[in-house]
Amino acid sequence: MKPIQVGLLGIGTVGSGTFQVLRRNQEEIKRRAGRGIEITMVADLDTARAKAVVGEGVQVVADARAVIANPEIDIVVELIGGYGIARQLVLEAIAAGKHVVTANKALLAVHGTEIFAAAHAKGVMVAFEAAVAGGIPIIKALREGLTANSIQWIAGIINGTTNFILSEMRDKGLDFATVLKEAQRLGYAEADPTFDIEGVDAAHKVTLMSAIAFGIPVQFDRAHVEGITKLAAQDIKYAEQLGYRIKLLGVTRRVAQGVELRVHPALVPSKRLLANVEGAMNAVVVHGDAVGTTLYYGKGAGSEPTASAVIADLVDIARLHTADAAHRVPHLAFHPDAMSDLKIVPMAEVVTSYYLRLRVADEAGVLAKVTGLLASAGISIDAVLQREADEVGGEGSTQTDLIILTHDTREGTLDDAMAQLQALPTVLAPIVRIRKEELS
Ligand code: HSE
Repeated sequence: MKPIQVGLLGIGTVGSGTFQVLRRNQEEIKRRAGRGIEITMVADLDTARAKAVVGEGVQVVADARAVIANPEIDIVVELIGGYGIARQLVLEAIAAGKHVVTANKALLAVHGTEIFAAAHAKGVMVAFEAAVAGGIPIIKALREGLTANSIQWIAGIINGTTNFILSEMRDKGLDFATVLKEAQRLGYAEADPTFDIEGVDAAHKVTLMSAIAFGIPVQFDRAHVEGITKLAAQDIKYAEQLGYRIKLLGVTRRVAQGVELRVHPALVPSKRLLANVEGAMNAVVVHGDAVGTTLYYGKGAGSEPTASAVIADLVDIARLHTADAAHRVPHLAFHPDAMSDLKIVPMAEVVTSYYLRLRVADEAGVLAKVTGLLASAGISIDAVLQREADEVGGEGSTQTDLIILTHDTREGTLDDAMAQLQALPTVLAPIVRIRKEELS
């Protein structure tokens, strides 16, 4: 059979990796796909660099629309990124009857509903394994491997930049700003790291996983998003003394009122495998009612790991594109007419446990006052750690850090209790609150 023809829009890090892996493993990939998969056209503004990557025999153009307009191209791979021109080009490719493969989590998390509807109407596939956790086949696992399950929850370390920064902060006892600079110097963090460090990238990814897990529309605008910029080195240290590590988690959970969808730093028990995912690695834990807890670990970014996911999608399309569209795996795992209308739960209704750090006057009755106030709010305490005053503020200090771990409580209840604690004259600085996920 004639090889399936692929056009790349953008040949940067991931595009180059895709080209190289396809070429290197072409015979094996052909034996799996049942036909060859060939990149025959590439669009990139930097045509000289693109030509240097692909060599002779591949048409290189500056205009992405020339790829979409080429009737020989069966699959368009969008590797431009962002919500702007990428959205236009993806919609145009779909309108032209092309299948689309994309690594663009931002695009799908924000405009997924429009894009999947257009693809469904046109009978083409939009595949996006590379959009979540790079080389880890988590979309395939959720959409197909775990299809028997009622999925209960997903918790993932799905941003390598922030996991690298947190690992360095813990290992070296350094503060966030120092480690960020080092991460930028080493190329682990972008020059503008905002999307990574503010949790936006992780929120795009957990939004996509949530949609697939629960059969709900992609709703990035409903996600709760908190990054790691405010994390202090001392909280990482106190957490460790209490048997926890702090990780930036993407969490989505099925609860009675709907679905939780949130990204924030969280204490994770050190004994959990997820707590031991270090450096720029990614990992996702999925709990299904039948299978129990499963864990997926690997590289969440990088040229060939991401190419691995892009090519898996190309193989899927090569196998399925002649199948009746109704017999393909639905984009979001559930058939479009069988989606759920489960609501995203507001954070005030989320039930979880908490780490609190209070800077308090080191005097009689302070601990009793704080714990008494929590007790009267119905918040149960799991553990208390009080540092010696001189460990915190030097000898003769009249202040100390009081660390409290709570049992599960409603976030709205905790917010109210924190406001009361903050108003106590013996609480001397803004209270630090970090959520805690036992993942049991
Ligand atoms: N910037 C992402 C990360 C990789 O740090 O994991 C691409 O999503």
